[in-house]
Amino acid sequence: MKILILNGPNLNLLGVREKSVYGSRSFEDYFEELKAAFPALELSYFQSNTEGTLIDKLHEVGFSYKGIVFNAGAYTHTSVAISDAIKAIESPVVEVHISNVYAREAFRHKSMIAPYCKGSISGFGLDSYRLALQYFERLKPNRIGFTV
Ligand code: DQA
Repeated sequence: MKILILNGPNLNLLGVREKSVYGSRSFEDYFEELKAAFPALELSYFQSNTEGTLIDKLHEVGFSYKGIVFNAGAYTHTSVAISDAIKAIESPVVEVHISNVYAREAFRHKSMIAPYCKGSISGFGLDSYRLALQYFERLKPNRIGFTV
């Protein structure tokens, strides 16, 4: 079951950026742990700081992968184009955030992508990604697709 973890702008700086909010671990390091924890999932990881590149990636995998775990970073709160892309593809997308966006500034309380995502996970640190993967791990194949 192919699953993409997609990270948006500034998330390449995890472990360096605002450590009190986002922690001191790089995503590359954490990704190794995720691969070991979910051997049944074919995990891949992609990060971009560019809106169009994120949209291209959603188009590329969004008709064949079983799921996408997506931290759109600040584009979560602003991007009509990314929300349109999620609406356009077939793969279910789970929105994740490392920090609890609802405990932060008001502009982070609005998600442009949430209405088109399967669900949203926010505030559990890097474990937000693990919780999203647990959702996909529990999906059982059946004749008409995938369901819990
Ligand atoms: C974030 C929250 C966003 O508001 C912020 O712009 C980020 C990271 C998070 O993972 O907590 O870049 O998506």
